[in-house]
Amino acid sequence: MLYIGIDLGTSAVKILLMKDGGRVLKTVSESYPVHFPQTGWSEQNPVDWFNGTVKGIKRILEGFDGSEVGGISFGGQMHGLTLLDANGDVIRPAILWNDGRSQVESDYLNNEVGKEFLSKHTGNISFAGFTAPKVLWVKKNEPENFAKIAKILLPKDYLAYRLSGVFATDVSDASGTLYFDCENRKWSDAMIEVLSMKKEWLPEVYESYEVIGKILPEVADELGINKDCIIAAGAGDNAAAAVGMGIIGNGGCNISLGTSGTIFISSDKFKNDSQNSLHAFDHADGGFHLMGCMLSAASCNKWWVSDILDTEDYDKEQRGIEVLGENKIFFLPYLMGERSPLNNPNCRAMFVGMSMDTTRLDMTQAVLEGVAFALRDSFECAKKMGLEITSSSICGGGAKSKLWRQIVANVLGIELTQTVNDEGPAMGAAILAAVACGEYKSVEEACNSIVIKHVSEVPDPEITARYEERYKEFSKIYPTFKEAGLW
Ligand code: XUL
Repeated sequence: MLYIGIDLGTSAVKILLMKDGGRVLKTVSESYPVHFPQTGWSEQNPVDWFNGTVKGIKRILEGFDGSEVGGISFGGQMHGLTLLDANGDVIRPAILWNDGRSQVESDYLNNEVGKEFLSKHTGNISFAGFTAPKVLWVKKNEPENFAKIAKILLPKDYLAYRLSGVFATDVSDASGTLYFDCENRKWSDAMIEVLSMKKEWLPEVYESYEVIGKILPEVADELGINKDCIIAAGAGDNAAAAVGMGIIGNGGCNISLGTSGTIFISSDKFKNDSQNSLHAFDHADGGFHLMGCMLSAASCNKWWVSDILDTEDYDKEQRGIEVLGENKIFFLPYLMGERSPLNNPNCRAMFVGMSMDTTRLDMTQAVLEGVAFALRDSFECAKKMGLEITSSSICGGGAKSKLWRQIVANVLGIELTQTVNDEGPAMGAAILAAVACGEYKSVEEACNSIVIKHVSEVPDPEITARYEERYKEFSKIYPTFKEAGLW
């Protein structure tokens, strides 16, 4: 049997074909645009996601027998508000996870409805990127669109709907809406009321490894896929990546250096900290996780190398960076504002500390280091909760750079592992499809049998000590500018 894992990312949809037993046969990727209609806003057309997926599935099946595809599942960019009308048509472009327009609504939720109320009913507080404040933004700013709402989906759930005709979501992705009770794995009636939503707007909730339906016959024909192919609920991209990297059960950690940067800590019990500085969400293995999410990670490097230096030769820009922990230049990676732990969509990126002898290499290094320091901010929140993390897996486009992995290992002072396939969310999605098809009894059994990890970076005590000093200095910059009233 064959399984298809679909990673619905922000820059592209990545599709992976896995054979039973876990061997990856092929991967393809189809990109689509992100629109920034105003500074700090970020939107995509859900129909672009579907068209890219159809094109990608057709390409991935070239040379393979589509009738052998038994299951399809997803890992999807989280939090995106995807609104459908009564005909199942998209009402407006999806408002994405890194869109900061709903700060006023997010402040209202935290300050007027109250963090205590939010935490009691959802396990989390509000961040502008979460889905709930976006619902309030549409209600206030686009009442004509709000009046048309018949369904509210998350990005990957739109793909599942177009493939199966079923409205469904999974617990890990629903966790990021702020109208889901993460501890009890169900929609929160209290939050539905606060947001003036109707319960029937929301899809049915499944565990990530459960079957939601079968592929629609006409879609199966178009794709050349077995008509009995099942669609499994899938997961938010971070939970799917964790599955793909074998981070399940209690106390595992995965770092993702994608467009966003996340630190994901798996847990068998629901827990959150008193400040709700980390997200307390459900995991795709039936358990829970804590997560810190920075809004711009590999995207900072892409912006610097591609947009500013005007080259696509990423390796060349890093060649020659040899000394770690002594760079005098700092970079604050807040190109889209910041989520964890600052919760400030209005702060912005900056280089600090340049002099006449500053080089292009110093600035490139500062970008890589700034992302690692900002990840460390979330890592510190986990440490304050008493969690001891000594090693982590690492995935995402940024993790392909050995230099960047070394910087992260030394800034956090932990060992980093990678997997043989290194496919993160798409691999996790294919694994979820295999579990849904019954090839494995549980996500744990599947990961134990499929995922092979190896240590890729070990921190060097001397470099870690140097970075410790640099991190202390980095930590002073944001509060200084914030106090000065800049953001
Ligand atoms: C997680 C988050 C991002 C997106 C990126 O909370 O917002 O990691 O899921 O795709």
